[in-house]
Amino acid sequence: MDKKVLIVYYTQSGQLQEIVDRFSAPLIQGGASVETIRIHPLQDFAFPWTSDRFFDAMPESVLGKPMPLNSLSFKEQSYDLVVIAYQPWFLSPSIPTTSLFYDSSFLKLIKDTPVITLIGARNMWLNAQEKMKKSLKDAGANLVGNIALVDKNGNLISAVTILHWMLTGKKDKKYGIFPKPGVSDQDIQAANHHGAVVLEHLSDGSWPTLQQHLVKTKAVDVYSDLMFIEQRAGKLFAVWAKLINSTKNRKLVVTLFKYYLLVALFMVAPVVLLINNFTFKPFVGKSIKRKKEYYLGVS
Ligand SMILES: Cc1cc2nc3c(=O)[nH]c(=O)nc-3n(C[C@H](O)[C@H](O)[C@H](O)COP(=O)(O)O)c2cc1C
Repeated sequence: MDKKVLIVYYTQSGQLQEIVDRFSAPLIQGGASVETIRIHPLQDFAFPWTSDRFFDAMPESVLGKPMPLNSLSFKEQSYDLVVIAYQPWFLSPSIPTTSLFYDSSFLKLIKDTPVITLIGARNMWLNAQEKMKKSLKDAGANLVGNIALVDKNGNLISAVTILHWMLTGKKDKKYGIFPKPGVSDQDIQAANHHGAVVLEHLSDGSWPTLQQHLVKTKAVDVYSDLMFIEQRAGKLFAVWAKLINSTKNRKLVVTLFKYYLLVALFMVAPVVLLINNFTFKPFVGKSIKRKKEYYLGVS
């Protein structure tokens, strides 16, 4: 098979690289020529994060402000498929990923080209993917598939464990009792199945049926409770981001945002969710189903 595939990704902990490696193995075995490029910001975010720096990344993530990257060089003039592997930061594509869309050579490559997004998230990627869809549309790219790997533990548990991971750099069990943070080893291993599905569609160019196939094989799923939280949080983040961006006392407002977020996530969201599940949810089943189908799709 003489198909050329480009995979572009950024990672801090190496999780997304592991996912990319597993995903690309069947493509390579199937004879495709796969070029994998890691994005390197000129001044990278230090990992592990300090708590202050972690929350300080919110406004630029949400407002889609780019950062300078080391220049990217591609072996080919064009590819049969481009895979953008990315992680959401504050319900938006991570800043290094956003910055990719300011690189003219990358924009030229994805124009009129099938693109697959491969997400490695905690569990909230819907808003980020909406922003990604817009960037791809603006660039004239053709989004044909989306794969989203998430931490399948409960929302509050995964929030605790991801903070432990991000702030210590250790992807291990907090206090020996919490589960391991991030995408499970099992789901990372299973990314090769998603690669095999993509290979099938790459071979014969049957892109219109790829996403259906990925949904069927559980390469992506949408959970209604998380969808409910994320839709509301996305709007609130936008308000905070603009506020922080326009204030003279950034440090203070970022600190306020940090405590606001912790209270909203651990105290407000569970109560609102509970009330919603017992009052409104039973009556809006059809609308939830429609929204889920939308987020599972690529249009
Ligand atoms: C600053 C920051 C914000 C994040 N925000 C989100 C988020 O909004 N939704 C989500 O599902 N995961 C979020 N995550 C987790 C990442 O998407 C990702 O899964 C994790 O950082 C591991 O990625 P890595 O391969 O870069 O190490 C965030 C991580 C960081 C560092």
